[in-house]
Amino acid sequence: SEYLEPGPRPPVVAIMGHVDHGKTTLLDYLRQSSIVKQEFGGITQHIGAFSVKIGKDNISFLDTPGHAAFISMRSRGAQSTDIVVLVVAADDGVMEQTVESIRLAKESNVPIIVAINKIDKPQANVERAKKSLMQHGIVVEDLGGDVQAVPVSALKGTNVDMLMEAILAQAELMELKSDYAGPAEGVVIESSTDPHRGKLCTVLVQCGTLKRGAILVAGTAACRVRAMFNDLGAPVQEATPSTPVQVLGWKDLPSAGDIVLQVTNDREAARIVAGREKALQEKKAIDDLVVI
Ligand code: GTP
Ligand code: NA
Ligand code: MG
Repeated sequence: SEYLEPGPRPPVVAIMGHVDHGKTTLLDYLRQSSIVKQEFGGITQHIGAFSVKIGKDNISFLDTPGHAAFISMRSRGAQSTDIVVLVVAADDGVMEQTVESIRLAKESNVPIIVAINKIDKPQANVERAKKSLMQHGIVVEDLGGDVQAVPVSALKGTNVDMLMEAILAQAELMELKSDYAGPAEGVVIESSTDPHRGKLCTVLVQCGTLKRGAILVAGTAACRVRAMFNDLGAPVQEATPSTPVQVLGWKDLPSAGDIVLQVTNDREAARIVAGREKALQEKKAIDDLVVI
C-alpha cells in the first residue's frame, strides 16, 4: 500500500574542513537562524545535530566535531552522512585537514559541496581557493567540474541561503528515501548523563518512525523511550527519518556511533544485550590471554 512505500527524507550534512576555517561559525549561524525562524522561545539544546527548515524542505546538520564523529561512525558501519560541506577559508585556501576531509568524503562516497568561507576578508581570494581545490581532485562547476562551490561569509551570513539551495539541489539528485512505516533504526550521535533527567542520548533516526514507548537496543544499552525532545528542546511524540531527537529512558549509556534498533519487547532487548555482553566478555578473555 501507499503507506509502505519509502518516502523522501531530508539530507544529513556534516561540515568538515581545516582548523579555524569557520565550521563552528557556520553551524552557529545556521542554528541561530533556524531558531529565529521557528520562533521557539526555549533554550537551545546542544544535542549534536539540528534541523534547518528551508521553505517546505528540511536539512539536518551534524553538530559534532567533524572528523572524529565521521570516522567513529564509519568504523562502526553507521554511515550517517549524506553530504559533506567542505569549508575552505578564502584567505588560506586548501590546507592539511582540507585534504584529509576530501579523502574521507571520497573514501565514503559522500558528495562534497564547497563553502568558500570568509569572503568578507580583504585577503579573500575565491578564484585561488577554487584552483587549489582542483589540485586535490575537487573541480568546481565554473572550472568545468561537477562540484558546487558557494562563496560565503559564515560570520556575516552572506550567501548562506545559496549554500542551503546547493545542498537541497544535491539532495534532490540523490533521491534520498527511507521507510517511514517500519520499526525505527538509527545511530547514536552523542550521549550524556544529566543529573536531573538521567541518561540521555541523541539518536539520528535513519528509517522507520521512532515513537514514545518504543523498546530500543544500542550496543549493550537498552531503552524504553520515556520522552523525546527535538533540537529546540520541545517535546515530540515521534521522530521520522533524518530527524535528530534526544531520547530519554536508557538503562545504560550507549556510545556515539552505536547503531540503534527498535525491538519488539523488553525480553528481546534483554536477550540481545546479554548476547552482546557475553561476546564482549569472551573477547576480553581472549585479549587478556594474549597479554599474558
Ligand atoms: P576548529 O573547530 O578549531 O577547527 O575551527 P572552526 O573551523 O570551527 O573555525 P571557527 O568557526 O571557530 O572560526 C575560526 C575563526 O574564524 C573565528 O575567529 C571566527 O570568528 C572566524 N571566522 C569564521 N568565519 C568567518 C568569516 O566568514 N569571516 C571572518 N572574517 N571570520 C570568520
Ligand atoms: Na577554531
Ligand atoms: Mg570549531
